[in-house]
Amino acid sequence: MPTKIDTPDIQARPSVDRNGFVFSWQGRIFRGIYPDAQQQIQELLDSGLIAELESKNLFPKTRATDYTVDGCSLVLEHEKISPILLPENWSFEMHKAACLCLLEVNRIASKYGYSTIDSHGFNILFSKGEPKFIDLGSFIKTKAIRPGVVKGWRGLQEFQQMMHFPLLLRARGWDINLIQLYDTSFFSILKSWCRHPFWARLLSPRIYNRIEDAYYIYKMIHQIPDEMISDNLKYTAIRRLAARCILFGRRLNLFPFTKVSFAKLAGKIQKIRKKRRRSVWGDYHDKIEVTPRFSAIAEMLKKLPNCKTVLEFGGNSGFFSKILLEEGNFDQIICTDYDVNAIDKLYLELRETGETRIIPAMLNISQDLMLSNFEPNEKRLRSDIVCCLALTHHLFLSQGLSPSFVFGRIKKYATKYVAIEFMPLGLYSPKFDDTLATPEWYCEEWFRENFEKHFKLIDRRILEKNRILYLGQLLDDESN
Ligand SMILES: C[S@@+](CC[C@H](N)C(=O)[O-])C[C@H]1O[C@@H](n2cnc3c(N)ncnc32)[C@H](O)[C@@H]1O
Repeated sequence: MPTKIDTPDIQARPSVDRNGFVFSWQGRIFRGIYPDAQQQIQELLDSGLIAELESKNLFPKTRATDYTVDGCSLVLEHEKISPILLPENWSFEMHKAACLCLLEVNRIASKYGYSTIDSHGFNILFSKGEPKFIDLGSFIKTKAIRPGVVKGWRGLQEFQQMMHFPLLLRARGWDINLIQLYDTSFFSILKSWCRHPFWARLLSPRIYNRIEDAYYIYKMIHQIPDEMISDNLKYTAIRRLAARCILFGRRLNLFPFTKVSFAKLAGKIQKIRKKRRRSVWGDYHDKIEVTPRFSAIAEMLKKLPNCKTVLEFGGNSGFFSKILLEEGNFDQIICTDYDVNAIDKLYLELRETGETRIIPAMLNISQDLMLSNFEPNEKRLRSDIVCCLALTHHLFLSQGLSPSFVFGRIKKYATKYVAIEFMPLGLYSPKFDDTLATPEWYCEEWFRENFEKHFKLIDRRILEKNRILYLGQLLDDESN
């Protein structure tokens, strides 16, 4: 007897998918399929494509269930991926791996007569360090010009604009946040200044955009459904003639240079290397010495009751996260930093060692870019304990952030406890045993007073000359 899932019990985001919608229920992830799309989705599942992608770790495990939900004739369950890292959380190397994943998915899909219509980064999630394509609704059947020969990819333009070119820019040292690409005005600026060939800068952006759009339409000419061509070109006699010519030309395979080779594109992506550009914190953890400080903090954190997940702000390349994993008993540690070199280093190291309990992610504590269609970072990455080690002096003194902003932000990511270091000497350099003058207000009483506005202080420990750890608990009405 099928079990009905009641609509008020599910959580779903607004969906643009014509085939169905994804929802979570009882902490599991499902996809309801509308009756109109059931046959098409069943054919996709029966084709063997999804099974091959699953076996290659490129798609989450998916199975049909006996559940029913209003408006849908089929309910699938997907393996849950958590936490959700959006493109804004990817380092350069993660971004590159995501590009390669999308191309590999399409290369494999082409063997089964499918391709993805979408090719942006929001359909890719990192699961145990591996990028996976997650959107079943994005697969469409390809049109072969003759058996076994497919030309064009409808997702090409989006792939170039949202994945490939931003990667090129990042390789050249551009510090772009991928979520900004959804703001088209930002993307237009990028396009006109970086990616266009020199001659294109002489054209007005309007004309250049038209040429570019025409290029991508030409590249997918074999994949546009007949009705779409006839429909779009039906209003004047000239257009109707053009539509007939296109349909005729397609039948005779008269359009050269329309093939898209996923393997070649992947080769291009593979070759993109980030220009070695020093960053302030990129090598910080290479030089760090093992001091008892980290073990002492790990010792304190592992005694906190019922804590299984940790998030580290300014975690650099994961020195402390690794110690915490070794010495504590945590299921997941999200190590975040805003320095791309540091997170890249951690990502590559974890890929090498196969350690999947540490999750690297780009995160700038002072920025809050949001897309309304996705949950914000603080919801997706929220953890039992949040650590902020050797960071607040930079936030208060170099970056000029206020204590209410900093503590408020840290609090939003924690469900139970916080471990925040105060640096009494401010921007002190142990190398030169020197300290920059700190402003008058910057003292421990000031730190403590502000800390206690947000957290219940449960421990204070002097760890080093310039490191005092404050261990706090969320105030009762704020924990969840
Ligand atoms: C002194 S290091 C501390 C690293 C590590 N927590 C430790 O204790 O060894 C400061 C780190 O904070 C990061 N950082 C500085 N400002 C940041 C911000 N606004 N958001 C995220 N990370 C930041 C830097 O990139 C750097 O890795």
